[in-house]
Amino acid sequence: SQIEMHTIYGGVVPEIASRKHVEAVSGLAREVLERAGLSREEVDGVAVTYAPGLIGAVLVGVNFAKSAAYGLGVPLIPVHHVRGHIAANYITHPDLEPPFLCLCVSGGNTLIVDVQDYTQMELLGATRDDAAGECFDKVARVLGIGYPGGGPMDRLAQGGDEKKYQLPRAKLDFSFSGLKTAALNLIHNAEQKKEPLDLPSFAASFSRAVADELVPRAMEAAEQCGRTKIAAAGGVAANSKIRAELERACQISGKQLYLPKLSLCGDNGAMIGCQAYYEYLAGRRGDWSLNGYANRDISADV
Ligand code: KG4
Repeated sequence: SQIEMHTIYGGVVPEIASRKHVEAVSGLAREVLERAGLSREEVDGVAVTYAPGLIGAVLVGVNFAKSAAYGLGVPLIPVHHVRGHIAANYITHPDLEPPFLCLCVSGGNTLIVDVQDYTQMELLGATRDDAAGECFDKVARVLGIGYPGGGPMDRLAQGGDEKKYQLPRAKLDFSFSGLKTAALNLIHNAEQKKEPLDLPSFAASFSRAVADELVPRAMEAAEQCGRTKIAAAGGVAANSKIRAELERACQISGKQLYLPKLSLCGDNGAMIGCQAYYEYLAGRRGDWSLNGYANRDISADV
């Protein structure tokens, strides 16, 4: 993890992230093989996130994976990062099979995806501006409660009164910039008036506003596509309020809910490996000209 390094700046510094990837990637690959008790000869393929993400870090991964696949003489399998997040659900729930609707919420992405098959997805909706995780992180930074801020905010919210602070909800598509600005204004106003902020209640009100933004839209999308199964994915899917609201909404509407276990919500290699298995079966391969991309539609074929 590079979190300690980025904490000093209160957010990911792209240049530092890329350099740290260069420093860590070879040793990490060696350590992963050791821990898995695998020799290089036992590796059948090399999977890599080729998009979307901070381009410097993505390129480090893509170039390392190309070299590794070439050196080992095995296939290279490009994986869309958010498809990987979705696949974290297959690891947690081996009985889960597409089609299903997935709410994908992380630090950089907020998407509703119709997962029609393991490698066939349709993007139904996305945030107009900030991602849900980014909104958590910015507000937490101003409160000075830690980085990345989603987890600390979630813990702080336990026992708080979620109706105490009034925060706005967007009316149309997903949007988090209005909520972020309103939350920051509320904090600054309280500071200026020297009024103490009831932190647990603020965190609870904020988490509820994010959940209100996400959950009804996901339910509506599932209804429109006729999906009976709903999954969640990404770092923000670890949020206890969002998980509880999804559970409640699915109980009411009789839909089956799938949530990845907490350790698989945030970025991890297992989810990329899992999605790579399905991409491999679907015949998807990268060649030596594979490039990395900062943005890529989840329905794109590399
Ligand atoms: O999926 P992820 O590890 O990285 C990206 O691909 O972006 O997600 C990281 C995001 C951060 O914004 C972090 O604050 C948020 O997930 N997060 C949470 C929680 N745990 C992590 N947000 C809300 N509640 C949580 N419990």
